[in-house]
Amino acid sequence: MALRLKERLGKKFDEEIRFFKGMMQGPKTVGSIVPTSSITARKMASVVNVNSGLPVLELGPGTGAITKAILGRGVKPENLVAIEYSTDFYEHLVRLYPGVRFINGDAFSLDKTLGALKDQTFDSVVSAVPLLNFPMQARIALLESLLDRIPAGRPVVQISYGPVSPIIARPERYHIKHFDFIVRNIPPAQLWIYRRS
Ligand SMILES: C[S@@+](CC[C@H](N)C(=O)[O-])C[C@H]1O[C@@H](n2cnc3c(N)ncnc32)[C@H](O)[C@@H]1O
Repeated sequence: MALRLKERLGKKFDEEIRFFKGMMQGPKTVGSIVPTSSITARKMASVVNVNSGLPVLELGPGTGAITKAILGRGVKPENLVAIEYSTDFYEHLVRLYPGVRFINGDAFSLDKTLGALKDQTFDSVVSAVPLLNFPMQARIALLESLLDRIPAGRPVVQISYGPVSPIIARPERYHIKHFDFIVRNIPPAQLWIYRRS
């Protein structure tokens, strides 16, 4: 029992060290100081419809907390496509979650990064990319490109740390819903859902 706890703490510590390494390599790209909490990760993964038969798209998996929660919903590893910019995180994720289709690339260039999967329809999108570090036009373009890849009405769920939606309203193009505010996250997290009608 004590050994298991030690192993678990060791793993958590390893994840955090990896996170800080990722931050040192490019603080603008990480956007948060510690991995997403399991409560937040599970809430984000709750939007996935496991029975849709469509793959799920994850952006910015980092140390894999949200990846784990998505797989925990019953999504088969091969039905999860996850785009991670940092090669350090990417290499760690490939080892940690065999079978998941990780791509080491830029979520803001989706066609290029998805390659052969660029015309794939996904069930939903679960995103932890640090939107606030990017210009508003880039955030809107990313969202529109994501919404083009999922059926109308299905969600893009986004984690953010500011008080308002990281993407401005454009009611004629998409709807924004405040999904949750999670205090048990460092820092406390806001979850937003974007959909087309
Ligand atoms: C806030 S962290 C996500 C933390 C993650 N949920 C976890 O628990 O470890 C943001 C992640 O987005 C990644 N990222 C930043 N810019 C990106 C981009 N343009 N494309 C893909 N991933 C990106 C970072 O490398 C980092 O892993």
